[in-house]
This record gives sequence, C-alpha cells and structure tokens, in this order.
Amino acid sequence: MKMVPRAVLFLLLSTPLSAAMEPISMGIAVGVATALTGLLTGTFPKLYCKFQECCEAQWVELNLTGLKTDLDNKLFGQHIAKQVVLKAVNGFLTNPNPKKPLTLSLHGWTGTGKNLISKIIAENIYKNGLKSNYVHQFVSTLHFPHPEYLHHYKEQLQEWIRGNVTLCPRSMFIFDEMDKMQAGLIDAIKPYLDYYENIGGVVYRNAIFIFLSNAGGERITEIALDFWHKGNKREDIQLKDLESKLSVGVFNNKKSGFWHTSLIDKNLIDCFVPFLPLEYKHVKLCVREELKARGYQEDEDIIISVADEMTYFPENEKIYSHKGCKTVATKVDFYL
Ligand SMILES: *[C@@H]1O[C@H](CO)[C@@H](O)[C@H](O)[C@H]1NC(C)=O
Ligand SMILES: *[C@@H]1O[C@H](CO)[C@@H](O)[C@H](O)[C@H]1NC(C)=O
Repeated sequence: MKMVPRAVLFLLLSTPLSAAMEPISMGIAVGVATALTGLLTGTFPKLYCKFQECCEAQWVELNLTGLKTDLDNKLFGQHIAKQVVLKAVNGFLTNPNPKKPLTLSLHGWTGTGKNLISKIIAENIYKNGLKSNYVHQFVSTLHFPHPEYLHHYKEQLQEWIRGNVTLCPRSMFIFDEMDKMQAGLIDAIKPYLDYYENIGGVVYRNAIFIFLSNAGGERITEIALDFWHKGNKREDIQLKDLESKLSVGVFNNKKSGFWHTSLIDKNLIDCFVPFLPLEYKHVKLCVREELKARGYQEDEDIIISVADEMTYFPENEKIYSHKGCKTVATKVDFYL
C-alpha cells in the first residue's frame, strides 16, 4: 500500500469532526484517504508529488547556483575538489543521454571534507538532501562488517541498487570507508558502473556513485608538503600534480579496497577527487562556519581556542591538522 500523503491525512484528522469521530467513521476516513491516495497517484500524479517525494524534477533536480554557493561557503581549502566536482556534476546532470553513471572517487585524509562534499552534492540535487529516498549511504564497517557474509552482502547490494534505480533512475549511492571494504564486494556492483545500455531492462546510466576513501591521503599530503617546502602556493597545486601519482598510489595499496577490482583498470571511475590536508587557517574557517550554522555570532576567542586545541603535523612545522575539521563540531559544543 502506498503511504497516505501527510497533507491529506492532516486535512482529514484536523477537521473538528475528528475529535468526536467514532471508530466506524474513522474507518471511513481512512478508506477515503486511501481512495484519495489512489486517485492522487493514479489520476493526479502532479498533485501527489506536491506532498510526497517523487522521482520528478520538483524533488530531484540540480541547483547549480546552490552547488556553487555551498562549495564556496562551506568547503574550505579544497580548490581542486571544488573544481572537479562542480564540472563533473554539472556536466553529468545536464547531459540528457549519459553513456554511463557518474562515478566519483574521493580521496584524502580524514576530516578534509569528503563527507561534506557528498552532503553538498546531495542537497543540491535532492530537495530532501541526504534524507531523500533516492540517496543511499553505505558505510563498510557498519553495513558490511563480517567477511564471512560476503556472498550475502553481494546479493543484497545488487538487489538494493537494482531496486532503487528501478524506482528512480536518478539515484545516488555513497560508499564510505572504501578502504575498509572487502575487495570482492565492490566487484558485485561493477556491472552497474559500466557502459551498458541497460541491464535486465534497468537503465543505470543516470545514477550517481560516490566512493569515499582515506587511501592516497598520505601521498596527497606528501605532495602538498613538498609544495609548501618549495615556497609554492597551495592554490597552485593542480589536479595533474596529484592524479597520476594518486592512481598509482591507490592501485598499489592492497588495503585500499580497489586493489582487486578492475574499476580503475576498466576506467569505470570518471574522476579522482583529491582532498588536501587542512591548515590552521582552514580549521578556523570550519569553526566559524560551525558557529554560524548553529546561529551563534562569530566569536574570535572561541574560533582561536578550538583551532588551537587541534593537533598539527609534521612534528616540527605543525602545518596540517591531524583530523582536519573532523572534531570541530564536538569541540565547539564544549565552548557553547
Ligand atoms: C538554489 O540555491 C540557491 C542558493 O542556495 C537558492 O537561493 C535557491 O532558492 C535554490 N533554487 C531552488 C530552485 O531550490
Ligand atoms: C533501496 O536501498 C535501501 C538501502 O539503502 C534498501 O533498504 C531498500 O530495500 C532498497 N529498495 C529497493 C526497492 O530495493
């Protein structure tokens, strides 16, 4: 049975009558509501989708301005990731006939903004953001913790992807902790990432897959540090400085989760998105944004106190935050 649109239920239940309703008239009300839903979904899908999330443009559509604004205002110190994501997402969503789903592989140290950028992408495509019925998040250690269940996980994951893309071709799947995912599991979704017209009648070419991983983080940090030592500006680091070294680095790392798969081999990943380690000034921006998001005034004392509490590396120079901006929110809690 379809869900009764909340607005219809509200209308029915909030009439003065409902207070004194007897079970039988309640039954009728529910019957009417059910009939109404049927009528709405069948005859007036437009009206139905006004109240209930549908796989339609009013719920699922790229807001390019919003995406740009959020990337500029909420993500700090990631000029490469910003550019790559903006270009890839805009290009893909404005292409009426993509040849394959969009696959982004996000790499970098913890707390540098991989989850944040996924959230920003989701919020600017789906009205309901990460809570949308069409956005699915999987965390390796949470959803697929037991190696002995690999076979079961594979089947389940395939079924979920098939089921959800059937419901909404513009579905988004976020895989967190790819470096902790069993090698065999990602093989299970490989066919869905490939250049197929359809698989068993289901078209996967409009879906979006985002893979998050710490793999490559050390290599990215080395390169950033090298730039810093040479006195170059961080903003001068370009994708090509990282890309070749990164894919080799990720590839050679048995723990990266990509190891056994031919995702990279077969060019199924559209974009490598590197996240640079964050500096003191970026941590301060994160604290400022956190205060703003909670409706507090900017307080320079709090901002500096929180930023000072974070630990920085390398040992002598103390340039980059160990945990990026990851623990900023909990540290801010303490001061408020
Ligand atoms: C797109 O995003 C901008 C900036 O966040 C916002 O002002 C605007 O209302 C959004 N447009 C739609 C259609 O949601
Ligand atoms: C969609 O994916 C979710 C997991 O995110 C799963 O629980 C659900 O059963 C899937 N829906 C279908 C129709 O397969």
